[in-house]
Amino acid sequence: MFNADAYIASSPNAISKNEFRQRQSRLLSQLEDDEILIITARKPSTRSNDVEYPFRNSSDMLYLCGWTEPQSILFAHKKEGDWSVELFVQPRNILMEIWHGRRPGIEGAVNNWPIDEAHSIEDFKEILNNVLAQSSKVYIRGGLDSTVDIMVKEAIEARDRPRQQLGNGPTAILDPSMMIAELRLRKSEAEIELMRHACKVSSCAHIEAMRNSSEGIGEWQLQAIIEGYFQWNGQSWAYPSIVGFGENATILHYHQNDCRCEGEGIVLIDAGSEFNGYAADITRSWPTNGCFTEAQREIYELVLSAQKAAIEQCRVGNPFSAPHEAARNALAEGIINLGISEQSLEESLAKDGDLGKWYMHNTGHWIGLDVHDVGIYKPNGEARLFEEGMVITVEPGLYFGAWRDDVNVPSKYANIGVRIEDDVLITANGPDVLSKDCPKEIDELEAIIGSNS
Ligand code: GLY
Ligand code: MN
Ligand code: MN
Repeated sequence: MFNADAYIASSPNAISKNEFRQRQSRLLSQLEDDEILIITARKPSTRSNDVEYPFRNSSDMLYLCGWTEPQSILFAHKKEGDWSVELFVQPRNILMEIWHGRRPGIEGAVNNWPIDEAHSIEDFKEILNNVLAQSSKVYIRGGLDSTVDIMVKEAIEARDRPRQQLGNGPTAILDPSMMIAELRLRKSEAEIELMRHACKVSSCAHIEAMRNSSEGIGEWQLQAIIEGYFQWNGQSWAYPSIVGFGENATILHYHQNDCRCEGEGIVLIDAGSEFNGYAADITRSWPTNGCFTEAQREIYELVLSAQKAAIEQCRVGNPFSAPHEAARNALAEGIINLGISEQSLEESLAKDGDLGKWYMHNTGHWIGLDVHDVGIYKPNGEARLFEEGMVITVEPGLYFGAWRDDVNVPSKYANIGVRIEDDVLITANGPDVLSKDCPKEIDELEAIIGSNS
């Protein structure tokens, strides 16, 4: 049944040490002398007694040095025009490693990661106190690890008297998130290759689910095919997979995935893998029995044409809102033509107009190390203009959930939910759809669905 060989290709190289150093340089060159920057790991979280959720480091830590271990702090310090990057890590400890796995330790970190010095995490407080005495501003993103936040706050408070007497010591805590987000927004060649690979594996995973679709298959079984494919290729999911059949397809963040696909319904699968920290985010919608009904076809074709119109707008110099406007226009026109709305185009597009009943989310978001990646959409209140290297999802949909009691759902389209989502790189030559290997034309889908059963 499951054909895991559909896409086996060598993986692109991870980010080079040189590239990490360039990222650090671009960030730290914005700091003044005697300023320090602290990036903390996320605190591991408990799932149940003695069991933790799988650990994933903070995206800023991954971006700046690629360190994946918990209990770590990146500490950068600028002095006389020069900066150094130090990493505080868990030291080697045979007993802990027997239980929980190997640690690179201090020596491993300094030898193999793009940093200048490594120290034990246990020495952080003392070194922080020493360096703070000579520093002016502290850049720290709070909220990831409360222990570190408190340590930094106390260290700064402890400098209060000496600062008043000697005139030195930190006078401001600043959040570096926006500076880092601005760098992360534009992807390098190496990042694009990692994202392209995640998109290829995710596309093949969707194809595997299509090939193995049949009436009666469980949503959880389609999920297993998709996520098994990710794992087979050495990847994990970037976000919990959404596998919703029939009316479940009309729940935007449905995650129970515990119903059988019985009858003529459409299954909506929103699933993407993560590779070396970088996410793919792909949605496809298809009838599990392999044949679109007339009503399903009408809605599917409308969403597909809206998606293509939106992708067309992913061009250098266009505002990030242009794909959303194009998708909304196409969908509003379409629901009027299908008789779903009797409003004028302008009325349907208005804030409380008909379109909002059936299409209630945005058309896209930045994607990168976070599936909803960082980057201000409206710097200084103005829509961000697309530049080469930005990557955005394009994901219009229509959702006619007959279970809703706030609207009259047109009976012909009851319980049809369709979303089509691709990941699009902005290039000088126009939109480059990173997830283009995932089929979305109706005749392609009908030829693939069930072909492995
Ligand atoms: N998978 C979440 C989203 O599409 O935004
Ligand atoms: Mn998305
Ligand atoms: Mn998605």
